[in-house]
Amino acid sequence: MPDGADPTPRRMVPRHVAVIMDGNGRWAAKRGLPRLAGHRRGVEALRGVVEACPDFGVETLTLYAFSTENWRRPPDEVHGLMQLFRRYLRREAAELAEKGVRVRFIGDRAALAPDIRALMAGVEERTALGERLTVVMAINYGGRADILAAARALAADAARGARDPAEVDEATFEAALQTAGLPELDLVIRTSGEQRISNFLLWQAAYAEFVFAPELWPDFDRDAFARALAAFGARERRFGAVRA
Ligand code: FPP
Repeated sequence: MPDGADPTPRRMVPRHVAVIMDGNGRWAAKRGLPRLAGHRRGVEALRGVVEACPDFGVETLTLYAFSTENWRRPPDEVHGLMQLFRRYLRREAAELAEKGVRVRFIGDRAALAPDIRALMAGVEERTALGERLTVVMAINYGGRADILAAARALAADAARGARDPAEVDEATFEAALQTAGLPELDLVIRTSGEQRISNFLLWQAAYAEFVFAPELWPDFDRDAFARALAAFGARERRFGAVRA
């Protein structure tokens, strides 16, 4: 590389932001409300962040709505979350399409109710032409499961002679993940002060910056989002290299 050339032009605004929306339960408990009331308010916060993205220059927003581990929650909470997905997908598809938002889902759909799967397919189809913002909803998603499924698919290709294992590189692997085609993940935000990745985008977060916001997710408003983006802008990203 010639002297002075920068392989990673510095972007102050992340193109791709992922959010672990944590703290709904605590938000509700603090008010003596059922946990589901926190999730409901969480949907409001989600709406605010989706609306803010194009204003702030974020092109892709990936949201951890339900993890493969979340099935272990009490059945009424799981049911309530599924109801929230249904309502959100039914009510917001038209508005999202109108606002130029393209919606995509990652995660294993097989375990979801058939009507939810149908709603998801419908929203993907209705919003397919959106160019202002891509919203990726991770529902029944797990980072390890994503990596395993990719490895399995590539191994199956190799076993039937359609792929040379020696030629599997990072680009090939990435193309086999559910996030194929999305821009490189720049920033992961986790709310509520917890500092874990919780099996989210394990491969994809390799060079991402992390911001742990103190706000509980239902309190994560436009200003809190702006602060998280500003924290990203102030970081020096080196991608393993040394910067003079
Ligand atoms: C974590 O908070 C939050 C979740 C497991 C669910 C996230 C879902 C939403 C924000 C709403 C539904 C989304 C869509 C796409 C309509 P927690 O319950 O673990 O909070 P706690 O740690 O305080 O208990």
